[in-house]
Amino acid sequence: MDPKLYRLVYFSKNRILGGPSSIAIEVESILHAAQRNNARLDITGALIFNTGIFAQVLEGPRDGVEAIFEKIQQDTRHGDVQVLAFDITKERTFAQWSMGFFGRSREGHDLFGHIAVATGFTTARIEGARLFQIVRDLAFEEESRVA
Ligand SMILES: Cc1cc2nc3c(=O)[nH]c(=O)nc-3n(C[C@H](O)[C@H](O)[C@H](O)COP(=O)(O)O)c2cc1C
Repeated sequence: MDPKLYRLVYFSKNRILGGPSSIAIEVESILHAAQRNNARLDITGALIFNTGIFAQVLEGPRDGVEAIFEKIQQDTRHGDVQVLAFDITKERTFAQWSMGFFGRSREGHDLFGHIAVATGFTTARIEGARLFQIVRDLAFEEESRVA
């Protein structure tokens, strides 16, 4: 087995119909699934939702990341899934979260700037490293607020 640690970063477009309460219910169900599955496969990570876009970081052994991502890709609650990075990494950034959910503190703010839906989502470009940075900063900003 490959003992290395991998990190996958992607973003996707929300396909959940309805308003904020429908989205909240589905996100709750996604996080329950993550709780059920991720720890068992040694996966940690973070998920954010903003301006109609999901961004997620998955980290763990390659086979676990691939297994979870396979299911995620088939989920009709989102679409236009675009992988920005899938690299070997030395350490976990989200070790304390089987799947942390962030972004609540920034409702109404456009976290993703130039990948906003209005700019023509599928052709807009953002680098994996930049998206990872956004997710990481938001996670640690919200964590320090709770602590
Ligand atoms: C944006 C997004 C992120 C998701 N993240 C995860 C995840 O980290 N772990 C997980 O098990 N399922 C995740 N899911 C849900 C999966 O697509 C799938 O519904 C779930 O894994 C099924 O779980 P089950 O096989 O235990 O029923 C995500 C779905 C979406 C739309």
